[in-house]
Formats: sequence, C-alpha cells, structure tokens
Amino acid sequence: MHSGFIEVIYLLSAILFIVGLKKLQSPVTARTGNQVAAVGMLLAVVATLFSQKILTPAEMIGGLVVGGFIGAVMAKRVQMTAMPELVAAFNGFGGLASALVAAAEIVRGAISVENLPVEALFPYLSILVGTITFSGSFIAFMKLSGKMSGNPVTIPGKYVVLVIFAVSMIASTGWIYFGGSPVMCLLVLAGLSLIFGILIVLPIGGADMPVIVAFLNALSGLAAAATGFVLSNTALIISGALVGASGIMLTNTMCVAMNRKLWEVLAGGIGGDSDEAEAGKLVDGRTITSTTPDDTAIMLSFARKVIIVPGYGLAVAQAQHQVRELADVLQERGVEVKYAVHPVAGRMPGHMNVLLAEANVPYDALFEMDEINHEFESTDVALIIGANDVVNPAARHDQSSPIYGMPILNVDHSKTVIFLKRSMRPGYSGVPNLLFFEPNTRMLFGDAKDSVSELIAEVKAV
Ligand code: TAP
Repeated sequence: MHSGFIEVIYLLSAILFIVGLKKLQSPVTARTGNQVAAVGMLLAVVATLFSQKILTPAEMIGGLVVGGFIGAVMAKRVQMTAMPELVAAFNGFGGLASALVAAAEIVRGAISVENLPVEALFPYLSILVGTITFSGSFIAFMKLSGKMSGNPVTIPGKYVVLVIFAVSMIASTGWIYFGGSPVMCLLVLAGLSLIFGILIVLPIGGADMPVIVAFLNALSGLAAAATGFVLSNTALIISGALVGASGIMLTNTMCVAMNRKLWEVLAGGIGGDSDEAEAGKLVDGRTITSTTPDDTAIMLSFARKVIIVPGYGLAVAQAQHQVRELADVLQERGVEVKYAVHPVAGRMPGHMNVLLAEANVPYDALFEMDEINHEFESTDVALIIGANDVVNPAARHDQSSPIYGMPILNVDHSKTVIFLKRSMRPGYSGVPNLLFFEPNTRMLFGDAKDSVSELIAEVKAV
C-alpha cells in the first residue's frame, strides 16, 4: 500500500481519537466518543498490518473476530466496581507490548549507536517505561482485585533503594555508548525496571490506587509513543502522546479533587483495606442513632427537598435502578429530588455518572459538588447511599487526617442526614467518620439495594 495513503489513514485515525476524547468529556456523548475512537483504532491497526504486509486478509479478519470476541466478553462480564482493575490490566499489557516491540528492534539491530546515536535511546526508553508500567500495573491489579492486601507496604530505606535503582537503570542504558552489548543492556534494564515498578506501587495504599492506575495509564501512553519513534509509526506516536497527555490530566484532576499532590500519592503510605478494628475504635464512647425503613420513608415522604448522595457502596450494591425508582416515587409525591455527585465518589472518574446514567437518571438532575454544595442548607434530607469519605467532615478540620483538605459535600448542613450502609466501617481511606454520631444523623443499616427497595415500598404505603 502506498506510504502516503497510509499516512493519510493514520492522520484520520488521529482525528478520530481526538474527536472521541472530546466526546468523552460529557456523559451524554461519552458512548459515541468511545465508538468514534474505536473506529480510529481499527483503521490504524488495519492500515499498519496492510502496509507492513504482516498478515493475509484472512488472518486479519480471523484476528479481529477472535480479539473482538474476547474483548466484548470481558467488557460485558466485568463488574462496574472491577473497572479500575481491568484498566490496570490493560495498562500493564499496553506497557509490556511496547517494551517487547522495542526489545525486538534492539535484538534485530534495527537502530545502532554508531549510526543513530540519539534515536538509539528510544527503544531503551520504551523498555524502561513499558516495563515499569507492566510490573506497577500488575501490583495495582493485585491490590485492586483483592488478590493481595490493599495496605501500603513499607520498604525500609525506600528512597535510597529507589535512587540506587534509578542510577543503575540510567547506567545500564548509557552502557550502550561504551561498548556494552545492546541485548545485555536491554536485559539488565528490563530486569531493573520490573523491580522498580513493583517498588513504586507496593507502598501505595488502596485509596490512592485509582490515581496510580491513571498515572500508569499515562506511562503506558509514553511507552507507546517511544515505540512509535522506534518504528517511525506516526499513528503510534500520536495515540501514545494522546494517552500520555490525557492520563496525566486525569491524574491531576483526581489529585486536585482529593487535595493531594502527585508526589504525596507516589510517596505512599496512605489508605488501605478498611477493617473492623477501625470501626471498633470509632464506636468507643459514642452513640449513633439507627433508624428503620418505615421511619425513613415517612421523613422522605414529608420532605420538601431531598438530595441523594451516591458513593462507592451504590456501585457495590448495584442499587442504581432502585434509587431512580425511589426518586420517581418521591417526585410523584411532590418532593424535590436532586443528586449530588462528588468528583471522586466511587472508584474511578465519572463512576457515579455512569451508574446513574445506566438507570436513566436524567442528566439535569445530577449536580456537581460546586454547583450543589450551597443547597444543603435548604435541604430537609441528605440521603447518603454507600458514600462515606466524600461527606466526611474530618476532611475540613482534622489536620492529622489523610483526607484533610479534600473538598467534601456539605451534607451536614442539611436538616437530617441519613446514611445507607451495612456497618460502621469507614470508607476506602480508612478514616473514621464522626458525622455518624451527630444528633441529626440517622443510620439505616443494610445492603443499599435492599434498603432502597424497602424504602420504595414504605414510601408507596405512606
Ligand atoms: P467510600 O468512602 O469508599 O465509602 C463507601 C461506603 O460504601 C463504605 O463506607 C461502605 O460501608 C459502603 N458500602 C459498601 N458496600 C455497600 C453495600 N452493598 N450497601 C451499602 N453500603 C455499602 O466511598 P466514597 O464516599 O464514594 O468515596 C470514594 C473514595 O475513593 C474516596 O476516598 C476517594 O478519594 C477514593 N478514590 C476515588 C477515586 C475516584 S476517581 N472516584 C480515585 C481515587 C480514590 P459498609 O462497608 O459499612 O457498607
């Protein structure tokens, strides 16, 4: 195929990627955005395979069908709550693929230090970043999927160890300029980078893991872009750069929403698996007021204004359809119902928007934190369904708390606060929530789906 024509197709795919990304900005257009970007990727893959005469058309169609089928089954079967770990796995494989392609180019001697001294660095850069992404994502996947503890792992003398590794990685790459065998340099670099990725992610606690997944996503993009330079493949350079840039922007957005700095997240040590011991400490000397579905239903039915605050527990319980039905039933009774969505509610950006959209909650009923925070003062009931950290007042005043400084939803300004959750366990950050003990707070214990279903029945009966 003519190389000019291939470049035009690559340009077209790049345009489709950018249009797709733009459409991902809003839940209304996100679905189309995903499809547009997928078409761009299909074009780029087919054009590359044709131009390099890598596969016959029959093999290509076979690969597309098999790969497409596996991808479709995985996407259909994955639980919404398991999405971050799926993304972690994808990032890891993306990084590994970039590193393997770069390694193959080194092994076949495609770029030599003598002929192209600067370009010779690109495959090593790709191996460095791709391998760190692979091993780091593997640990992130294990932590997020509960296959290993989400607690931060302390590495004695961590910074000294990391500096030694970083210097060794630079030295093993620089070795190629001093007569080192390229294959040997690549093996040493890959080994060191594998361990470096593990050392970086192990000390990071579960609460920060989604941020790290976004960061590793950015790294996988950079590894792909570096490989794009190795192969002189424009599509790979552009798509890698887009993934890298959007991953960094996403990482930054998450850090801002949690009032954290990226270096603080990378320093690790915060947030792990929440446990009953924390809950026990929390209960000492304090009392809570628990409530029942029928009392709550009466309160909701006679309220003028109710704000629903969804959180991670809503996703776990898959209660979005019931929540929508409860809102409908209340609205039929003349109650004003709005939804307040915190930017880091759930476990990934837009988690709550996607869930509520699945239940056809109208977009104009969803309000972002800054839009709705002043309305809690005029709210009769703040109904908190499976959320915890995003409403925890410790973020406002407890300077020793790891969530200190994170902007929260001002639910405590409402007349009554009702928590729907299963126990006294803290949220993902592991920080106890003293709002549970406030006099205007009621705890409705149980799985969110069961509790909301009971509320619907009770409200209908009022
Ligand atoms: P969390 O603070 O994690 O609280 C979720 C609550 O849901 C838990 O306290 C849990 O209590 C309850 N829950 C779990 N399963 C439930 C079920 N089946 N039914 C009812 N309740 C259930 O969630 P949040 O308020 O959404 O905050 C999100 C956290 O994740 C923040 O710390 C945030 O910083 C962090 N984070 C989020 C992101 C993004 S982008 N979303 C990124 C990085 C970090 P019980 O166990 O007692 O039921």
